[in-house]
Amino acid sequence: MKLLISASIISFVSSTKTGSDHPTLPTRWSAVTDEPSVGTGFEEYLFEDVPTPESPSAMWSKYPGCQRLIYIASNADAHRYLLGCEAVDCCVEVQSGNQVEFQIPNVSYSSGKSADVTYNRVNITNFGDKVEVDEWSWDFEVGGKVVQSFKASTVECDECVNGVR
Ligand SMILES: *[C@@H]1O[C@H](CO)[C@@H](O)[C@H](O)[C@H]1NC(C)=O
Ligand SMILES: *[C@@H]1O[C@H](CO)[C@@H](O)[C@H](O)[C@H]1NC(C)=O
Repeated sequence: MKLLISASIISFVSSTKTGSDHPTLPTRWSAVTDEPSVGTGFEEYLFEDVPTPESPSAMWSKYPGCQRLIYIASNADAHRYLLGCEAVDCCVEVQSGNQVEFQIPNVSYSSGKSADVTYNRVNITNFGDKVEVDEWSWDFEVGGKVVQSFKASTVECDECVNGVR
């Protein structure tokens, strides 16, 4: 009886993750995406914290009828190129600052404080399939007040970069 209890405690401890076990997402990927109210598309992403002309922070978003390239070579050279979007053939818009960073967490404070990540195991629906995932959540605070909350869902994947999908 004693043996059985300690064995079950060990397996409970080793299978429970906490927020600090969150994975680091790759900064370069391509993916089929599901964008609410737009539909299924294909995106290619390269995130650079400090973009340079040699290695820009950039993202291609390709959806039926509309393609967009966000291209940030430097703060002074940051643009969005739109092809076939908003009922016009082309256009270029100025992009202010870097693109969205897809990272867990992606919030940083000048004080050096870091965002707390909370862990949950949940079922979600992904492309119509029910999947059990690791869910990581964190907040963005201004003056100690939560102004935005984020969630990211991941599954472990041995053959994927950083072991995560
Ligand atoms: C952090 O990620 C969320 C979810 O993808 C996004 O909405 C937000 O803009 C990101 N923040 C930054 C600073 O990139
Ligand atoms: C997810 O769904 C499966 C099948 O219904 C269930 O066995 C499992 O406990 C659920 N997981 C969570 C975290 O709710």
